[in-house]
Amino acid sequence: MKTTAVLVGLIAIGCSTSEPPPVDPAWPYPQIPEEEQRTGDPARGYDYLVNGGYITCGIPKSVYDSVVTPGDSGIPGRTGDNAMLPYNFSAATSAEGVRVVSANCLQCHAGSINGQLVIGLGAADADFTADRSEFVDLAGNFSMSTMERAAYNRFADRMRAIGPYTQTKTIGANPADNLTAVLMSHRDPATLAWSATPQLPLPPAIVAPVDVPPWWRMAKKTSMFYTAGGRGDHARIMMAAALLCTESVEEARAIDAAFVDVRAWIMSMPVPKWPFPLDAALVEQGKPIFQATCSRCHGTYGEDGYYPNEIVPIEEVGTDSTLAAGASQFSDRFVEWFAASFWGETSRLDPQEGYVPPPLDGIWATAPFFHNGSVPTLAAVLDSKKRPGAWTRTFDSNLYDQAAVGWKFTPTGLQSAEPNEAKRVRIYDTTNLGYGNQGHIYGDDLTAEERLAVLEYLKTL
Ligand code: HEC
Ligand code: HEC
Repeated sequence: MKTTAVLVGLIAIGCSTSEPPPVDPAWPYPQIPEEEQRTGDPARGYDYLVNGGYITCGIPKSVYDSVVTPGDSGIPGRTGDNAMLPYNFSAATSAEGVRVVSANCLQCHAGSINGQLVIGLGAADADFTADRSEFVDLAGNFSMSTMERAAYNRFADRMRAIGPYTQTKTIGANPADNLTAVLMSHRDPATLAWSATPQLPLPPAIVAPVDVPPWWRMAKKTSMFYTAGGRGDHARIMMAAALLCTESVEEARAIDAAFVDVRAWIMSMPVPKWPFPLDAALVEQGKPIFQATCSRCHGTYGEDGYYPNEIVPIEEVGTDSTLAAGASQFSDRFVEWFAASFWGETSRLDPQEGYVPPPLDGIWATAPFFHNGSVPTLAAVLDSKKRPGAWTRTFDSNLYDQAAVGWKFTPTGLQSAEPNEAKRVRIYDTTNLGYGNQGHIYGDDLTAEERLAVLEYLKTL
């Protein structure tokens, strides 16, 4: 895998038409070249994202309505029966012809900051610590028509298959990569038909946790995912969540056609701006320090900014290696499933043994940090001595820490020392597999004053 990346990197550097910015050494790591993408219509894409029926199984709407009081969605542009559903749920018509309700992309890809819901910000407070199929089982007790019962059963089967493999140890950690792997295990790559017994060995039930990245980064990225695993046609990879319910290639093709527009919307979305006061002199002081210390991996910003799309080997960056070692959907058998499936027609999984240094646009809003969300503030990214080994944080998005830039946190004991479950799942324990907070010590050699200046500069990106 690594050899290919190096070769591709060399070719990309050779072909690049952009002027390298004034940093030394310029682009020391392999660069991931841009690949052709289909174009689409952003406005149509937003409409499909919030109203489209791309998750075609779920709880019958009649059952949902008998339990949940309808209310305002909290986001603009919702129409029809979606207008009165929470922003992170959508209604769709199932293969049985039944109107069903299911979670949509915003379950993981919308989050709050300063009391405001931001579409595209990772849901840093989504709770995947419980087996969600228990909730689905409860819905089964309601009375349903024969067709509704058939639709419900199909959905409940999926949820029971997924449940035990998508439980994280702490609130905010996301199991999406394991979720995708479980769905691949149960689906025939050629037909996408579901089989009750897995056709491929399931991924380990212990989830390698991932912090959901903000969507606006895609405007600069030539690959998807932390390990640069998502290559080729991005729109098709973005619709992979439809694997939950899509039972045929024909159905997948129809969703794929609409996702060209969803991708176009994601590519055009705004980056949230730091809403608090800034020290302009300190920002000016921080910029050259950032360029000298950070730009070789994260690129440069502003009008002539350049983002290099590099992949930094795991032994260089030193952050938790579990995901980069090929966890969940990035193991060989799932990479092969993907290649043999409908997805393999135009896209591919090609994960690297390293991590992409993400574009830092809007980084102030995206705590916690690193691919596994192991560090609560930017101040602690810049100074590894400040990183707590186990911590709990505020879940009130109005209490963002403006000085340290991130979530206000309290150091705690390890999870194993906390008998109360509700409290335990609020602890981020860096001794769990995949949850480590080590590595990326590039700010450690700076003086405290220099770190403050870089922090101020980061607020402006
Ligand atoms: C269960 C949670 C979940 C759902 C639902 C979900 N995603 Fe994601 N998404 C993630 C996680 C986690 C990642 C990062 C995975 C990684 O890098 O290994 C991700 C990555 C992405 C990325 C790549 C971002 C980057 O910087 O590389 C895009 C784009 C994306 N998702 C779009 C979507 C769309 C569109 C939908 C709905 C069809 C969706 N996702 C549904 C959790 C989710
Ligand atoms: C040698 C390359 C390299 C250098 C130099 C570097 N970084 Fe990084 N950075 C990375 C990589 C790779 C990641 C992703 C690591 C991960 O997620 O495990 C990262 C992650 C980050 C993150 C977390 C992003 C997120 O969304 O979670 C921040 C913030 C960051 N870097 C800031 C900086 C700053 C500020 C500097 C300079 C003081 C710097 N980096 C220097 C490679 C580098």
